Amino acid sequence: MNQKNCYILGIESSCDDTAAAVINNGVILSNVVATQKIHEEFGGVVPELASRAHQQNIVPVVHQALRKANIDKKQLSAIAFTRGPGLMGSLLVGTSFSKSLAMGLGIPLIDVNHMQAHILAHFIKAEGQTAPNFPFLALTISGGHTQIVKVTDYFEMEVIGETIDDAVGEAFDKAGKILGLPYPGGPQIDTYAQQGNPKRFKFPKPKVSPLDFSFSGLKTAVLYFVEKEVGKNANFIEENINDICASLQHTIVDYLMDKLKNAVKQTGIKEIAMGGGVSANSGIRKALQDAQSKYGWKTHIPKFEFCTDNAAMIAIVGELKYKQQLFAKNDVVAKARMKL
Ligand code: KG4
Ligand code: ZN
Repeated sequence: MNQKNCYILGIESSCDDTAAAVINNGVILSNVVATQKIHEEFGGVVPELASRAHQQNIVPVVHQALRKANIDKKQLSAIAFTRGPGLMGSLLVGTSFSKSLAMGLGIPLIDVNHMQAHILAHFIKAEGQTAPNFPFLALTISGGHTQIVKVTDYFEMEVIGETIDDAVGEAFDKAGKILGLPYPGGPQIDTYAQQGNPKRFKFPKPKVSPLDFSFSGLKTAVLYFVEKEVGKNANFIEENINDICASLQHTIVDYLMDKLKNAVKQTGIKEIAMGGGVSANSGIRKALQDAQSKYGWKTHIPKFEFCTDNAAMIAIVGELKYKQQLFAKNDVVAKARMKL
């Protein structure tokens, strides 16, 4: 099969987004995401509800992706799906759907590691995106992970630093909950932060080894700070929401940048690519952009639609694996915990 006629369908269902995308020769033809609103009222993802919503969404989402790409399912060359890591019930929906579709169409099935996909999304050909050169460092920041990864080839990755407790997205979301913001707190905090003074309040930067992260102390610090201030003024949060969010975001972004600086120093690698939902954050995007002139790094910031969970990133990994004929066996199973 030549590359021109190679159409791969990517399917993502690891958490609370049901997504499908079609890729052809590195270019995304469609990228459909159904975000499950049901979790908002619970202030976090409820696994059982997520899995049920995936079951309802997956057929219409895949149909829409094929329709938008203007292709028929018979034109597909392979199906790529998220095998893990993620919520078991959610992963099972995407895995079993992909298996049956691939079997029905008689085409190869390709299993994808969700975290690798967040990194390899940089290889999608899209305006405003540049593919990193090997070796590069990847900062993967999401609701489930916070890692610095040394990437020497598409499928040769080594975690050189990671969180010892909460993920950075979790820190944003838990802080959002303490501040009474709707779930997920990350994007909310980002919006308020853009109107606020980042130097107004001080939050601690937890001390751990140079390349590792810790966020559980920050959450506690926010809780104590808010309780103390609300004790003095019941309207403290409403009156200061912009400055609280700006100061908190500033602390988190500074902390991520400190760790990246340590990683660059240790490895000598100055090319950095960011991935994962938190890379949608305006503060970290600006900091990485500024690092080009400030520190002489070459930085890669993904397009917004490829930051949070999406199937385009699954489709690009599918295509990269397809070229190397790296197919999954029919008895492949979903895996909640998976290393890079
Ligand atoms: O990668 P992702 O979509 O799902 C996981 O695999 O976890 O990441 C979701 C996380 C959530 O914690 C969400 O609050 C965070 O990404 N997030 C943000 C922003 N947009 C999404 N955090 C801070 N600022 C944002 N703009
Ligand atoms: Zn993710």
